[in-house]
Amino acid sequence: MQATAHIGVTGLGVMGRNLARNFARHGYTVAVHNRSAFRTRALTEEFGHEGAFVPARTAEEFVAALERPRRLMIMVQAGAATDAVIEEFAPLLEPGDMIIDGGNAHFADTRRREAVLKERGIHFVGTGISGGEEGALNGPSIMVGGSAEAYAVLGPMLEDISAKVDGEPCCAHIGSDGAGHFVKMVHNGIEYADMQLLAEAYDLLRQVAGYSPGEIADVFRTWNSGRLDSYLVQISAEVLAHTDAHTGGPFVDVVADAAGQKGTGRWTVQTALDLAAPVTAIAQATFARAASGRRALRAAYRGLPGGVQVPLNGTEAARFASRVESALYASKVIAYDQGWTMIQSAAAEYGWDIDLATVARIWRDGCIIRAAFLDRVRAAYTADPAMNSLLVEKGFAEEIAQAQVPWRETIASATRRGIPVPAFSAALASYDTLRAERLPTALIQGQRDFFGAHTYGRVDRSGTFHTHWGESERPETRTGESPAGKEG
Ligand code: 6PG
Repeated sequence: MQATAHIGVTGLGVMGRNLARNFARHGYTVAVHNRSAFRTRALTEEFGHEGAFVPARTAEEFVAALERPRRLMIMVQAGAATDAVIEEFAPLLEPGDMIIDGGNAHFADTRRREAVLKERGIHFVGTGISGGEEGALNGPSIMVGGSAEAYAVLGPMLEDISAKVDGEPCCAHIGSDGAGHFVKMVHNGIEYADMQLLAEAYDLLRQVAGYSPGEIADVFRTWNSGRLDSYLVQISAEVLAHTDAHTGGPFVDVVADAAGQKGTGRWTVQTALDLAAPVTAIAQATFARAASGRRALRAAYRGLPGGVQVPLNGTEAARFASRVESALYASKVIAYDQGWTMIQSAAAEYGWDIDLATVARIWRDGCIIRAAFLDRVRAAYTADPAMNSLLVEKGFAEEIAQAQVPWRETIASATRRGIPVPAFSAALASYDTLRAERLPTALIQGQRDFFGAHTYGRVDRSGTFHTHWGESERPETRTGESPAGKEG
C-alpha cells in the first residue's frame, strides 16, 4: 500500500467517523480503520464522495497507508480500549510518529502513556475534542497536549478542521503531556455546572414564577440574546419547547429525571480535591446528578415537609424571572472562574505553561460550553495573564456587584419554598467564602489542635503552635516554622 494518507483515524464510532470526514472535507487524505470492518465499509460507501479515504482492513495496512511522520488518531473508548489500541499500533510505528488520542481520556492516563511512548521515540498527543457529533464533523474545539514538536507538525491540520471565530481557530497547544486532556476534563466539569445552573433556573421559573416549559423556552431565548448568549442556553430552550410525540405534552415532563454521566465531571471533582481547588459549583452539579439517580434514597425522603408555596402574579413573576437571570449569570461567572482556578492549580502542580486567555479563546466556538462571554474572559486574561480570579477584572466585578441583591433573593426564594438550588447556592457560598475577611475555619484549627495536637498558626506571630489544653501553667508552645502556605 502506498503511504499517501496525511492522517489515519482508527475507531469509527460517531466521533471518529465524523472527524475522519471533517479531515477529508478539508482536503486531507484520510486512512480509516475499525476493529470490525463493517464500519470502515459503511464510511467509505456512504461518505466516500466527500474526500480521499483509504480504507484499511488490518493494523499493518493502516500504518502502511500513512505518510511519515505518521499521524495516527485513535478514537476509541477511554480506558482499557485505548491501551489495547496503543499496544496494537505502537510496535508498527517508528520514532517521530505520532499517536493522537482524541477520546475523553483521564489526563493521568495520558501522562503515563506519553512517558512510555516517549521512550520509544513516539509522540503521544492527548487531545481533548469537544462539540459532540456535530462539532466533530463541522468544527470542534480542540485542546492539544503532548510536545510542542508534535504540535508543530500536527497543529496546522487540527486547526484546519476546528471551529473558527473571526478566522481564529478554536484549537491550540495547551501544554505538555496530559495538559490537553486535563483542560478538556475541566471543560466538562464546567459543562456540568452550566447545565445544572440552567436546570435550576428552569425549575425556579416553573415552580416559583408558574411558567410553562414553553414559556420558559421563550424566557431562555430572550436571555440568549443578552449576556447569557451560549449554546447551552439555546439548546435548553429547544428542549423545553419540544413536545412529546406520544403524549402531546411537554417533552421535559416525560423524561425520567435521573441524570446520567460518563465520568468526566466526576474526574474533575476527584482531581480538584487532590489539587485543593474549590470547584464547589462543579461538585454540586456532579452530586446533583448522583442524587437524581438514587431512587431508594429519594423514596425515603419523599413526603418530608418542605417550604411554602407563594403564588406570584404576572408582574411579580416577570420580576422574579429577571432576578433569576442575574443569579444565573453571577453563578455562571463563579463556576467558570472555579474552572480557571483549577487549571491554574494544575499548571503549577504539573509544570504546564498554560495560557489562560488561549483556553478562553478556543472555547468560544465548537465546544459545548461555547458562550459569548468567553470573549470577555479572553480579553481579561490577555490583559492580565496571571490574574487570580475573573472577579478582579473591572467589568466582571461590576456585574457581580450589581447581581448581589437578585442573586441572594433568588436563592432565598428557593430556600423558602423548598426548591433545591445546589449549584446556585454553592456559587454564592463560594463567593462569600472567598471574599470574607475572616473565615470560621479558625475554629476548626482550634478543634484540630484540641483533639489531635495538630497545631495552628497565629495571626500575630509566625510559626506553628500547640495549646496545652487544660494546662494553665504551660498555655502554648511554639512547635515550628510557619508552613509554606498552599495556594490552591
Ligand atoms: C463535549 C462533551 C462530551 C461529553 C458529553 C457527555 O465536549 O463534546 O463534553 O465530551 O462526553 O457531554 O458527558 P456526560 O455523559 O458525562 O454528561
